[in-house]
Amino acid sequence: SWPINVTIKEVGPRDGLQNEKKLIPTKVKTDWINQLSQSGLRHIEITSFVHPKWVPALADAKDVVKSIQRKEGVVYTALVPNQKGLEAAIETNVDEIAVFMSATETHNKKNVNKSIDETLPVLRQTAEEAVKANIPVRAYVSTAFFCPYEGRTNSENVRRISESLLEIGAYELSIGDTVGTASPMQVEDTLNHLLKGIPANKLAMHFHDTRGTALSNTLKALEMGIQTFDSSCGGLGGCPYAPGASGNTATEDLLYMLHQMGIKTGVSEEKMVENAMFMENHIGKPLPSKALQAHKGK
Ligand code: HMG
Ligand code: MG
Repeated sequence: SWPINVTIKEVGPRDGLQNEKKLIPTKVKTDWINQLSQSGLRHIEITSFVHPKWVPALADAKDVVKSIQRKEGVVYTALVPNQKGLEAAIETNVDEIAVFMSATETHNKKNVNKSIDETLPVLRQTAEEAVKANIPVRAYVSTAFFCPYEGRTNSENVRRISESLLEIGAYELSIGDTVGTASPMQVEDTLNHLLKGIPANKLAMHFHDTRGTALSNTLKALEMGIQTFDSSCGGLGGCPYAPGASGNTATEDLLYMLHQMGIKTGVSEEKMVENAMFMENHIGKPLPSKALQAHKGK
């Protein structure tokens, strides 16, 4: 059986743009975010406050947050790795932060320059201060299925990291298939592990579609009671520190499938396709989204 409603968390302006070689002007980013805000989305991850040398594509993070027109009812989130990131989030008054760590040592080290054991106290302190400042904390578990350096991830490690992140105060976990290798069977296995101790309403799935399995994995997660999914307008995305990673589930592809199944999202497919077209025109090459390409072929 399927849920009646699904929440979509748009990550295009962050995950989508962080790995783009072509530098997108701040004004284009903010216009895009403003359009995304008008499409019925309630959650948009708009940038990240990480070190600009590590992710040059988002070096204008503060300007982006300060320049957008905020729509009432939309939660604007920024990704942060530590307290310095949280300070920027507080200064720019974002509604929510998202912290992140990996379920595998090597990816964590390559991504944030620390071991898993060193990262947890940093995130704990960041989360505690965020909560004190009334900023809700979401947490990503990266490489939850596969690590580009270590291979297949042990689901027991995913469970352990997930529980730690809930324990430090995250209200929701986003379980990341960082390089897009998972199959529905692995999703079932990992979720079976997680759902033993964690309620479904504290879990979201963050699929990358590198091998075309993102929607199949979504369907499996829906069957298992998950009702929150991350996706990226146009199907942009990828972690610069995970070789082989490509775009997230395209938001408009996800919308098409869900709406055809009678599941409500509150998000307009038509507007999302327009938003994808807008960014495709700026990037200057076809984006991975199937719904966008189908629309252009009409
Ligand atoms: P580091 O070099 O170890 O940092 O980098 P440090 O703590 O040693 O400090 C060094 C310098 O960086 C200092 O400046 C700090 O102030 C500064 P200095 O004193 O030398 O002038 N610094 C910062 N500057 C700006 N913003 C900050 C910040 N923190 C310290 N927040 C660090 C550690 C975490 C900063 C670095 O490794 C980093 O920025 N990593 C980010 C990597 C990243 O963004 N990856 C992509 C996002 S994760 C992802 O895509 C996966 C996800 O989508 C889910 C999935 O798909 O699985 C979420
Ligand atoms: Mg990602």
